[in-house]
Amino acid sequence: MRATIRGARALVTGAGRGLGQVFSETLVARGAATVYGAARDPSQITTSGVTAVRLDITDPAQVAAAAKRCSDVDLLINNAGIMHFTPLLSAPDTEAAEDEMRTNYFGTLAMCRAFAPVLGANGGGSLVNILSVVSWFAMPLNSSYGASKSAEWALTNAARIELRQQATLVVGVFASFIDTPMARNVDLPKVSPQSVVDQTLDAIEAGREEVLTDERTRFIKAALPNDLSVIYPAQQDLWDATHPHAPS
Ligand SMILES: NC(=O)c1ccc[n+]([C@@H]2O[C@H](COP(=O)([O-])OP(=O)(O)OC[C@H]3O[C@@H](n4cnc5c(N)ncnc54)[C@H](OP(=O)(O)O)[C@@H]3O)[C@@H](O)[C@H]2O)c1
Repeated sequence: MRATIRGARALVTGAGRGLGQVFSETLVARGAATVYGAARDPSQITTSGVTAVRLDITDPAQVAAAAKRCSDVDLLINNAGIMHFTPLLSAPDTEAAEDEMRTNYFGTLAMCRAFAPVLGANGGGSLVNILSVVSWFAMPLNSSYGASKSAEWALTNAARIELRQQATLVVGVFASFIDTPMARNVDLPKVSPQSVVDQTLDAIEAGREEVLTDERTRFIKAALPNDLSVIYPAQQDLWDATHPHAPS
């Protein structure tokens, strides 16, 4: 299962800024026939050649309306997401964790469910979920976000199984920090949004199901068999340094 970008009819969620904006610009540049740029505030969509669609992925009525209006779509890019930079147990409450789960997991699940029949009716097409390196491990800086991205990764794997018979290519995109507004306060290496987008569109054309966009992402994936000894000591050091325990 592979697809060409030229002539594709694509919908990108969260297209008003950051990675989603670069996805829609690049889809236009690479000859997609239709690009729907979905945003909670459609006035954010200003890219020439992109059709604005109002869409909050946590609103079931808006998701259903988008699937009806964009019934010609054969490429869905589930890009919309939020990150609150909160730990799990030490956060004052579970509000951030619930919000991230509602958007990153349940919102993306709603989009997959609504658009699976659309993709099937249009020959199978491609479904892309923008995941994260923290789908695979807990980073204390943003562990509630990581939990939601783990759930979204599980969803991606399940969708791939359920949609294979209708010939839908399901692609999981994993990145460390990306240079977008979401990571504006992060002082760590960041991959460019253009690189993430180019690698993703190339993967769709090659029929590849997984995109590991940067060096750190490839390192973490390779280290998973030894995560407790290779990955977690540095995360523990980071936590201990920022949360010193009072001596008893
Ligand atoms: N930046 C990173 O370091 C990084 C790393 C790995 C993965 N990712 C993932 O990459 C994707 C894109 O993020 P980004 O870096 O471009 O962040 P961003 O600049 O914060 O953009 C996020 C986009 O998602 C939209 N969004 C949030 N909640 C939504 C909802 N309920 N319904 C519809 N749209 C919603 C936002 O729209 P509003 O303007 O309405 O808020 C915004 O357009 C996310 O899935 C993120 O988790 C990011």
